[in-house]
Amino acid sequence: MKINSSEALERIRKEAIKALKLREESNDSSSAQACGLEKGTPHIQILCCGGTGCKASESAKIVENFRKSLKDHNIADKVDVVVPGCFGFCEKGPIVKIVPDNTFYTSVRPEDAEEIITSHIIGGIKVERLLYTDPGTGEHISDSKHMNFYRKQMRIALRNCGFINPEDIREYIARDGYKALSESLKRDSLDVLADIKASGLRGRGGAGFPTGVKWEIARKFDAPHKYVVCNADEGDPGAFMDRSIMEGDPNSVIEAMMICGYCINANHGLIYIRAEYPLAVERLKTAISQARKCGLLGDNILGTGFNFDIEIRYGAGAFVCGEETALIHSMEGKRGEPTLKPPFPAEAGYMGYPTNVNNVETLANIPAILTKGPQWFASIGTEKSKGTKVFALAGKINNVGLIEVPMGTTLREIIYDIGGGVKGGKKFKAVQTGGPSGGCLTEKHLDIPIDYESLAAAGSMMGSGGMIVMDEDDCMVSVAKFFLEFTVGESCGKCTPCRIGNKRMLEILTRITDGRGKMEDIETLENLAKVIKDTALCGLGQTSPNPVLSTLTNFREEYIEHVQDHVCRAHKCKALLTYSINPDICKGCSLCARNCPAGAIHGEVRKPFVINPEKCIRCGMCLSRCKFGAISVK
Ligand SMILES: Cc1cc2nc3c(=O)[nH]c(=O)nc-3n(C[C@H](O)[C@H](O)[C@H](O)COP(=O)(O)O)c2cc1C
Ligand code: SF4
Ligand code: SF4
Ligand code: SF4
Ligand code: FES
Repeated sequence: MKINSSEALERIRKEAIKALKLREESNDSSSAQACGLEKGTPHIQILCCGGTGCKASESAKIVENFRKSLKDHNIADKVDVVVPGCFGFCEKGPIVKIVPDNTFYTSVRPEDAEEIITSHIIGGIKVERLLYTDPGTGEHISDSKHMNFYRKQMRIALRNCGFINPEDIREYIARDGYKALSESLKRDSLDVLADIKASGLRGRGGAGFPTGVKWEIARKFDAPHKYVVCNADEGDPGAFMDRSIMEGDPNSVIEAMMICGYCINANHGLIYIRAEYPLAVERLKTAISQARKCGLLGDNILGTGFNFDIEIRYGAGAFVCGEETALIHSMEGKRGEPTLKPPFPAEAGYMGYPTNVNNVETLANIPAILTKGPQWFASIGTEKSKGTKVFALAGKINNVGLIEVPMGTTLREIIYDIGGGVKGGKKFKAVQTGGPSGGCLTEKHLDIPIDYESLAAAGSMMGSGGMIVMDEDDCMVSVAKFFLEFTVGESCGKCTPCRIGNKRMLEILTRITDGRGKMEDIETLENLAKVIKDTALCGLGQTSPNPVLSTLTNFREEYIEHVQDHVCRAHKCKALLTYSINPDICKGCSLCARNCPAGAIHGEVRKPFVINPEKCIRCGMCLSRCKFGAISVK
């Protein structure tokens, strides 16, 4: 397949659309009736999620079982098995979708494959037990459109994830793939750039810098070589937005990098991805090789004289290497340490040449903006934050997964409507946005519309899109300590405030959670946090005090309780726990004493037992062993 002109691209698209028609039409249907070969359905497709989450739950085995069963039943020519990227609802994975009746099966096991084939695919009867059950109504819901998890979502960056086969460039082309590039190459690159500016797109990697303005700056610098870098490092704990885009729709990133190259006069693209994302690496490699083979990457692209090619560079998994100057140093074979800006990469980046660095999600928006128009994009979101944002919803929430919502959606809508509320009916306590450098927001912030400015004003930040929900069982001092432990471990050590200041903060937090805190520690923490924020060299150090500062603002009473009363209300800080036996309930069975690893419990059989607090190591064994509920912890 050679695509050497825009006409050739359109010809291929026409063919490719036919193959995807069944899936496109099914997307809008929600039939209570199942399709089935015995009912006369001529062709059926089975989509089985091939994202990392579902793969970890044996989705590859499910695919294998589907293929075997289709062969055994002699119907392999009537049923396709397609492996798309993440559907988003990872909590309920592995996901299997049946086309054309749009049935959405959840939590499928490899042994369910045969039943799906015999009952649904052949017999035309849905497998009820694998349908999603609405936790509110108890009803079975058979298509994703009617699930609360999807209802308020809007998919732009994730438009092809869970839909196309990411290993087949024709499926991307069928979804208007490479149309934005082909149309852009016919226009003056300044006009294309003006569209990106007009869309209002801002960087999704954390800082929210306007993408069009960034491209404009990079364009202004003339040099024999210029580079477009895709920042695919994504090191925030719990974040998987960018990885999922690369796994599910790698061509959207490639196409966007080429458009950027055209706008800033660059011919080289570099994708910096951490080596610990093997599936994303594989899918990118396949996409790059297919694009090269058909002439969409290389010289004289679409016969226009524009040349562009892409290389993959691997990161070794250091969070700081996501910072753009550190990333560039790492690609140059130097230590992954940030440097002061200016000069910005746009002026002196990779190998000293002008370089434009963009995040994966930022790039994934570009082709959609250009095919649908900048006004369309600018009409979504809030005044200063346009379009949508992808979040990795995690923590104590019912629906863990990947979501994309219009900017301006409230935290309440995300947590309760899409996320299904707090797990186990527990009380909501806080939500951390912005990854390890973000802040913890509370109930009173739930109705703020999510955009860059509102989150910053509330003491947190958009960051790249990590969102972790916490409940009443979480200790906010420990949460601050957890995130600080991460940033201390990831600090490159180049500047003093971050290298030493964060360590001192961590020591104080450790003292407080160990029950050795003093009241003046709280003030020292606050002062130190402010100094580090103001004086650290790069974004890692400048934002690392955020979890401490936001918990000090919103949960100060918990710090005071730890220090003054030696109490951790969430029972998370071991050193502050006191185990005791209620003599009125204790039956004197001795089970706790026999299981105590510290020999801290004594007593006479059939009389109340007693715990010696001096010897107790707070392991919780007695609490879990007592069958009479006689032991309590405070
Ligand atoms: C410590 C640190 C880690 C970062 N990690 C990432 C990352 O993993 N991915 C990313 O796109 N940007 C990351 N950034 C932001 C980048 O420096 C840069 O702003 C971004 O890649 C620019 O792309 P954008 O304008 O499309 O957002 C990080 C910044 C800091 C300070
Ligand atoms: S702030 Fe931290 S990560 Fe950034 S340069 Fe300084 S020591 Fe390194
Ligand atoms: S918490 Fe552990 S160490 Fe303490 S009394 Fe119970 S079993 Fe013994
Ligand atoms: S296990 Fe419970 S009932 Fe038995 S001795 Fe210990 S506290 Fe008393
Ligand atoms: S990985 Fe399958 S739904 Fe997310």
